[in-house]
This record gives sequence, structure tokens and C-alpha cells, in this order.
Amino acid sequence: MSLKDKNIVIGISGSIAAYKIASLVRLLVKEEACVQVLMTPDAKEFITPLTLATLSKRPVFSDYIDRHTGTWNNHVELGLNADLLLVAPATANTLSKMAYGSCDNLLLATYLSARCPVMFAPAMDLDMWFHPSTQENVKRLLRFGNILIAPGNGELASGLVGEGRLAEPEEILQQIQQFFYRPLPLAGKKALVSAGPTHEAIDPVRFIGNHSSGKMGYAIASALQSLGASVTLVSGPTHLPTPQKVSRHDVTSAQEMLAACSMYFDVSDIIVMSAAVADYTPLKVASQKIKKKDGNLEIALKKTTDILTTLGKKKTANQTLVGFALETENELQNAQDKLKRKNLDYIVLNSMQDEGAGFAGDTNKITVIDSKGQIQHFELKSKQKVADDIASIIAAHQGAINS
Ligand code: CTP
Repeated sequence: MSLKDKNIVIGISGSIAAYKIASLVRLLVKEEACVQVLMTPDAKEFITPLTLATLSKRPVFSDYIDRHTGTWNNHVELGLNADLLLVAPATANTLSKMAYGSCDNLLLATYLSARCPVMFAPAMDLDMWFHPSTQENVKRLLRFGNILIAPGNGELASGLVGEGRLAEPEEILQQIQQFFYRPLPLAGKKALVSAGPTHEAIDPVRFIGNHSSGKMGYAIASALQSLGASVTLVSGPTHLPTPQKVSRHDVTSAQEMLAACSMYFDVSDIIVMSAAVADYTPLKVASQKIKKKDGNLEIALKKTTDILTTLGKKKTANQTLVGFALETENELQNAQDKLKRKNLDYIVLNSMQDEGAGFAGDTNKITVIDSKGQIQHFELKSKQKVADDIASIIAAHQGAINS
């Protein structure tokens, strides 16, 4: 199975099993993957950077600063461009540092800043592997969503026999291939996501708007896409780039957003309305710029159509409909009422009382309520991580519908 165009970063820590990574790099390069090797300082005692640089056809990074060129090895960029970070062999020491967020070498800094999936393949002596602290660290890493490539059973470098051997290169390759070719839970599903604010025209140069940045909705579109859904993003005016492989339909007003969402609704399996739609719009739009006069100016407003309520009335049993609620008081009660009134499967509650949650920032803190009244509280996270949580709830709901 080809790994063409896959950027794989391998982080090697200091274990005798590091020699196996030379074969792994060869196998990956043969499958056309782009391999970038990082090494901890100790790893270089077990295998030379030159061997790995030759096999991967790229310089190997170990320090923050490249001593030969004097350039900075940017760990953020390494993590951002990768499709996968594999830490192999992962020693007990590196596992512990990963589990607790230590950051005293380039590999760990790359791990902490990586946004891509992370696999780790432990290698150590059997007593170290079975020590409760190592086992707890592994569980902690699994809880973070990292993927374990379990160690094998056999003769260890110490002469002992048991569990703790680094998985063989062929097996690691196979797990990487399975990971990239796994069936995605939302493959074949269509999703509609609304995002951003709406602008309600007062005259040709003025409008009523709100502070929504669209970041949450864009992150949800991207999260659903990465689970395999084909996503249409109906977006109000924002400054955000279109997420990869998402089709975008720009609108300005609540009326235009209603028309666009209604158009895609029937063919969508998943509908997430995260847009901050204006509840009121000027009764009349002046055809010319309104000139300044003495006294106050009053603008009469009329109610817009509630898009979510309109869609909720048409919802079928195969669709997953998700709405948002931004509340300042009686939060849970108001959100639960909204969920029922709008006939939703889930409502995502943002509380204005939570620090770090809200429109413009990069973080959010949510509570998700389902139609059975179950409540899930989440911690403050980046909007992309919040979006991943929402997307996995949706994937589970779609899975239950189809089973
Ligand atoms: N919404 C919508 N169309 C509108 C107004 C809101 O589709 N005209 C959607 C939003 O996208 C969001 C949900 O309804 O998913 C809740 O929006 P919110 O403004 O919190 O609730 P409202 O129903 O407008 O109630 P209120 O403003 O009274 O809290």
C-alpha cells in the first residue's frame, strides 16, 4: 500500500532497538513516504544520524539549532506539516516525558506541538515495561488519543525473555498503512455546516453584524471532513481560509443563509448550525446612503426566520441535527429548551461565563446535551480539539443510526 505524499516524522529515543529504525525508514521510503527523522541526544549513541539521513534522503534533526548551517529546526513546523508522528523506539523515559508534558529536547517539543496523529512504539526491558508507572504513562498517552504499537514478546537485549521488544519494522509499517487506509467513520456521508456572522444591510454601506469569527464552524467543517464526510460550509462574512477539501458557499444575510442551508438540507446526513445568525434585520434597506440629520435615527427591525427551527421541522430519522446555544443565565435549562423547541439531536452550549470561551478566541469550553437529556461537560480546549469532540459525537450518532 503506497504511502505517497505522506509526511511521516519518526522520533527516535535512546534504546538499543533504535537500530531497527534503519530498516523501517527503508521500508517507508520504498512505499514513497517522505520521512523526517528526529533523534534524542541519547539515540545517537545507538545509531548514527548519517545512516538515517542516507536512508531517509534528508538531514536528521536532533538539536533546536543545526550546528552546521546555524539554522533553527522549527519543531512547530515539523509537527504542523506531518501526517503522522511516530515515536519509535519510545523508551520508558521518553514515554514518561510525553505523558507529563516535559520538553527538554527537539523530539518532545515536536510531540507537544504536533497537530497530527501520534503513534508510539515502546521498547524497554520487561520489568520496566510492566512497572505500574510505565503502564500508567501508557494509559495516559492512550487517553490523549495517541496510538500504541504494542511491544512484542521475545528475547530482550538484557538477556531476559518477555514483553518489551520494539515491534518489528514490517509490523510497524503494516500498522502505519492500516492507519492511513482505515475506513473513515463518515465516509459516504454528506455534512452541512453553517458558520460565521450574518450582515444585515441598513443601506448600501452599513450593516448590522456581530462578533462571530466563524472559527468554531470552520473547525467543525474541517473535523467532519477528516472523518470522511463531504462537507459544504455555508459561511457568513469571515476572514478565514476555506478548510482543505471543504466546499464553501458564501452568503451575507440571514435570508441568504436560510436559502443556502435549505438547498443543501435534504441531501445532508449531518447538519451543524454554528453560525451566529442575526435574529433581526432592518424592515427596509435604504437604496441610498442614509444622510446625517438632526436628532436620533430609528431603524425598524423585523424578525428573521430561525434557520435551525425551519430545518428541525423537516428533519428525518437518518439525519443528525446539531445546534449551538450561547447563554448568559439559566444555561442548561435554556439550552435544553432550545434543543426540544428546535427538534435537535444535540445542542452545544457555550457559556459566556467561562473564561476562554466565546467568539473571537482560539479556545472554547462546551457542554453537549443530547435529545435524551444526557449531558457531557468538556474542558477548555482549542477550537480544533472542541471540533474533533463534536465530530466524534456526530460520528457515533450516525454509526448508531446505520447499525
Ligand atoms: N439560529 C438560526 N437562525 C436564526 C437564529 C439562530 O439557525 N435566525 C441558530 C444558531 O445557528 C444556533 C441556534 O439557532 O445554532 C441558537 O442560536 P441562539 O441565538 O443562541 O438562540 P435563539 O434561538 O436565537 O434564542 P435566543 O437568542 O433567544 O437565545
